[in-house]
Amino acid sequence: MTDLSGKDGYAVNAQYYDLIFPAEQRDRITTGLRALLPGSNRIVEIGSGTGLFTAVLVEQLSDDGELFAVEPSAVMRAALATRLSGLDNPPVTILPEDAITAQVPEPFDAVVMLHMLTHLTGTDRNAAWRHWVPRLRPGGLVITDEQFPQEPTDIPPSVILGRTLGRRRYDTVSQARTEGDGMVWTVTYRVHEEDALVTQDQVSFPSVVVSHATIDTELRAADCQPVPDAPEGIWAWRKSDTNPT
Ligand SMILES: C[S@@+](CC[C@H](N)C(=O)[O-])C[C@H]1O[C@@H](n2cnc3c(N)ncnc32)[C@H](O)[C@@H]1O
Repeated sequence: MTDLSGKDGYAVNAQYYDLIFPAEQRDRITTGLRALLPGSNRIVEIGSGTGLFTAVLVEQLSDDGELFAVEPSAVMRAALATRLSGLDNPPVTILPEDAITAQVPEPFDAVVMLHMLTHLTGTDRNAAWRHWVPRLRPGGLVITDEQFPQEPTDIPPSVILGRTLGRRRYDTVSQARTEGDGMVWTVTYRVHEEDALVTQDQVSFPSVVVSHATIDTELRAADCQPVPDAPEGIWAWRKSDTNPT
């Protein structure tokens, strides 16, 4: 089994990541970020990955705003740095630490954690809330993607179509089994040319499963309230506007 949460995590997955990320999901989350974050002065993105959403976050910054992109995996960071280097000097600082150890000048307007809660145990999540929420400005946002599934579930193999690049077409076969209070995903990344399967790579990795109710309880305890009518595909909480007494 591969541990995707460390500095060597995603060594297999990284080369396929953008090619198989579902376009509809990307569009939905992009729309949500654009609705919630315009005019932000400082954003922290945790687990930026290849930067699929980092450029969207940069677009939301005020003129003198800045973004800190926390990404512990070396291969994902390479993709992130390459993507950002293609932009016109974006105000993004890449940090190689993780969700609990990264240090960022405070306060900030938002902490964004997309498709990465799967890597945080309950203990890690609570450590992350303790680390980040006190450093958010009053009224600042904690943003995650909608979690699916929200309880451990066996998922039969299904093919998810990816993109075509040149002569080759990419897809995955994904399946999961429950294990304890989490799940183990097995993903086969396949590369096809015409009717032939050219290569395939398979990884199995543990996944933490968490419900909205659980995160909501944790974040309310950390002085945040859910954002009513958060955009589709996104879960969001706002830090209290007043300091707790
Ligand atoms: C599925 S990718 C998501 C990337 C990006 N946020 C997106 O939505 O496309 C999860 C990312 O979280 C990173 N990650 C894993 N464990 C982490 C941790 N403890 N702290 C911060 N990032 C972590 C991984 O290296 C990986 O790049």
